[in-house]
Amino acid sequence: MALIKLDEVVKEYRMGENTVQALRGSDLEIESGDFVAIMGPSGSGKSTLMNMVGALDIPTRGKVELDGEDLSTLTENELAVLRSKKVGFVFQKFNLISSMTARENVALPMLFRGKSRKKRMERSEKLLTEMGLGDRLGHMPSELSGGQQQRVSIARALANDPDILLADEPTGNLDTDTGDKVMELLEDLNSEGKTIIMVTHDPHDAQYAEYIVDITDGVTERKEKEESYDLTDRRTDKKEEKTSKQEDEASDGDK
Ligand SMILES: Nc1ncnc2c1ncn2[C@@H]1O[C@H](COP(=O)(O)OP(=O)(O)O)[C@@H](O)[C@H]1O
Ligand SMILES: [Mg+2]
Repeated sequence: MALIKLDEVVKEYRMGENTVQALRGSDLEIESGDFVAIMGPSGSGKSTLMNMVGALDIPTRGKVELDGEDLSTLTENELAVLRSKKVGFVFQKFNLISSMTARENVALPMLFRGKSRKKRMERSEKLLTEMGLGDRLGHMPSELSGGQQQRVSIARALANDPDILLADEPTGNLDTDTGDKVMELLEDLNSEGKTIIMVTHDPHDAQYAEYIVDITDGVTERKEKEESYDLTDRRTDKKEEKTSKQEDEASDGDK
């Protein structure tokens, strides 16, 4: 059974008189342990798809199942509990709470699950140490580099030991070397069994994934890395097509 299953998912946003169809009937199955890269142009529906997969929002039509459970049958409260148990979120801009230390930021999601302060602080320290930040526990986000902040946010995403990590452009605000370190961290977490679903613009980051879900104008398509990640090749193909067409026309003229 797939861990996440989308069946003909349509998501519409109403904007006054207009309706934007952000997803146009997506079918998608993600197995436990997969590492997926979601790729597509800006505005194509990537974040909307993440919101569906992470139970942050519900579809206008169609069905989303998490672990065989139809999300449309759950109340807001039940959805919140499911999210806090099963899904960890990592964002491009880290989204740490600026008035809290690294340790408090990581401990926060455990508060909502009713863990004692002592347990929260212990686990937070353990996770930050695993992220190589054992000597930064009491630092505020502003006292940390971008790469360190992203590692704090990954530790926070792991606080409740979720099965699924959702990362929306996790390296978008990082330089290449720091971004690579974050990708290696995600790769390690995947090899430890976490299912990872990552939005990225970067073909280099997409190489870390097992396969690609390509999204264009709200239409999703699963692709293998070889056939999808290198958008430059596609452009080259088009150019070659055009050139050979022109040559054909030219030779037609010769007849
Ligand atoms: N809350 C919203 N209200 C109205 N329109 C939205 C909302 N969120 C996204 N959209 C629209 O839906 C489309 C897909 O958006 P999004 O999923 O954020 O794309 P991406 O993450 O690929 O850039 C865009 O046209 C966007 O403007
Ligand atoms: Mg987005």
